[in-house]
Amino acid sequence: MIKRYVFGDPVETESVLWKPEAADWQDDRLFCRDNAFYGDLSGEEIVYGLGQNVRGINKRGWLYESYCTDDPRHTEEKHTLYGAHNFLVLDGAGVLGIFVDTPGNVVYDIGYTDSRKLSIAPQSADFELYLIEGESPDAVVEVFRRLIGRSYIPPRWAFGYGQSRWGYDSMNQVREVAAGYRDNHIPLDMIFLDIDYMERYKDFTVDKERFPDFRGLVAEMKEQDIRLVPIIDGGVKKEDGYDIYEEGKEKGYFCKDEEGEDFLLGVWPGRCCLPDMLQEEAGRWFGSKYKILLDMGIEGFWNDMNEPAVFYSEKGLAEAFEKIDAFRTQNLDIQSFFEFQGLAAGLSNSPQDYASFYHEYRGERYRHDRVHNLFGYYMTRRAAEAFEELEPEKRILLFSRASCIGMHRFGGIWQGDNHSWWSHLLLNIKMMPSLNMCGFLYTGADIGGFGGDVTEDLLIRWLSFGVFTPLMRNHSAAGTRRQEVYRFGTAELMRDVISVRYKLLPYLYSEYMKAALGGTMLFRPLGFAYRKDGIAGQVEDQLLVGESIMIAPVHEQNAAGRTVYFPEPMKLLRFHGGNVLEEAVYPKGHAYIGMPLGDVCVFLRENHILPLSRGGECVGDVDFAHLERYVWGTDVKPYAYYRDDGETKEFDLEKHVEMLTV
Ligand code: GLC
Repeated sequence: MIKRYVFGDPVETESVLWKPEAADWQDDRLFCRDNAFYGDLSGEEIVYGLGQNVRGINKRGWLYESYCTDDPRHTEEKHTLYGAHNFLVLDGAGVLGIFVDTPGNVVYDIGYTDSRKLSIAPQSADFELYLIEGESPDAVVEVFRRLIGRSYIPPRWAFGYGQSRWGYDSMNQVREVAAGYRDNHIPLDMIFLDIDYMERYKDFTVDKERFPDFRGLVAEMKEQDIRLVPIIDGGVKKEDGYDIYEEGKEKGYFCKDEEGEDFLLGVWPGRCCLPDMLQEEAGRWFGSKYKILLDMGIEGFWNDMNEPAVFYSEKGLAEAFEKIDAFRTQNLDIQSFFEFQGLAAGLSNSPQDYASFYHEYRGERYRHDRVHNLFGYYMTRRAAEAFEELEPEKRILLFSRASCIGMHRFGGIWQGDNHSWWSHLLLNIKMMPSLNMCGFLYTGADIGGFGGDVTEDLLIRWLSFGVFTPLMRNHSAAGTRRQEVYRFGTAELMRDVISVRYKLLPYLYSEYMKAALGGTMLFRPLGFAYRKDGIAGQVEDQLLVGESIMIAPVHEQNAAGRTVYFPEPMKLLRFHGGNVLEEAVYPKGHAYIGMPLGDVCVFLRENHILPLSRGGECVGDVDFAHLERYVWGTDVKPYAYYRDDGETKEFDLEKHVEMLTV
């Protein structure tokens, strides 16, 4: 059951696909005062949701916000990350789904000020609120997903493993990476191109000196079953003679400041303008430019810096320089020194800048901060719509850094600039189900960590979890330790781990497709499936992946195994050195399981089937038709196996599902 309430005069976000008739406010569970909502957390309620954010699967005990933010330090004291995902599920005496539909900020105090209380405060008085009732969190999520529409489906090759790094700045570097994998027989499907392929960081250009035959390189890689996936940034370099800039300027497609001039901001190329992604014509214009790269043979993209990231604004920079100048002659004391220090740091992504430019959206003019969370959404949506026109029959890979609910229909997301920290592997695990609830299925974090230097064991452990995430990409920042797996002494172990992905692919792809088409989750917290079990709801580092298996990744350094909670009896299947070992059935309860580096453990549910392929060095090698079946129990349920060609768009559960039996 869904109820929709309208407060004030909301901005239409196009997050939902259909709208139930609006009701007058009346609810027993949430108390409404001054457009904020208050709820009771005095029992054992679990609060699930908020998609991409810090902290746990259970969101209790912190203050969260929903404001797309370019912040590369995802530490516990933060309140928001790159996405704005305003959906919560309260599981207590009853189950209640809450969705706040607004393009501006929302503050969630989930037992922070008072551990027994919840408050939800949209920062604008104009918003819509949806309340969804259901028998279980799964049921509420399914209703919500019907409301917001089908999740994005990438081409099947995008379920392969990808190598990325900020710094692949020549054709030979790309060839070297490809050879590093192919020569060592480590599976690979994608190499990602970061801003280095562009000519001075200009969107839709290719540097002619460092990539003299880009088209040829794309073809050469494809011959080896490797797709090149370039990055596109949200800002367009301001440079006379650069056609994209000139055209955008002439047609008036850039966001304007208070004076009606093109708003100037700093990003990678220096001074930039922001295409008004919200304005339909401007957004479509930007989307149409992806054709330049499609025509060179490119089949996938990642959209970045689209919160939008503002390193500085032209005005902010001028003011800061003026103040810094005034400090020059002063004796800097405790106060003035910190003020001085903060001047440069405070330039980026500042609220003043977000309040100083404008969008034309659905025929009206909005100050940016009011519609902030829509920028990444519309950048990605307009690209996806362009692909639909340019390549109607073909699936194009697309994922974004910033997002809000609604964007999940047009692309996936990656989880932004994490670090090579064990705590970020754990954060990655916790974020998967929260994102799935909000419709984001094609997602994953930078495996090995983006910032900082990875260690071999962290990379192996992260890969051992990454084999389950739909986007499986190893990415790292310029200046950090090189992270390509063939560079490590333990490359063989890493190859074994990555190979597990290709064995699991038929199952993972099938479960992904069923989750996308049925509005369900690929990653579920144990608390969703074992609601009566007092312990399952507290487990934050184990997940159900699809209907047949549970995983319990190791996320601590120097651990040779870990304690696993079994909410029901399960059989341990151990991927070890290229083989699958069938080990013991563990009864309900806790058990310590040895998990040496390089082993991937999955726990098979009773009477469920896990189909596995023989693997391959790329998705194209994998035989999706002839599968081995792993199973235990005396009353095995047939497995609904979804298989299609992985390329075209005829998505159909009835047509593509076959029932596998033992
Ligand atoms: C941003 C992206 C990161 C990329 C870098 C350079 O920080 O999040 O993935 O490598 O920009 O383009």
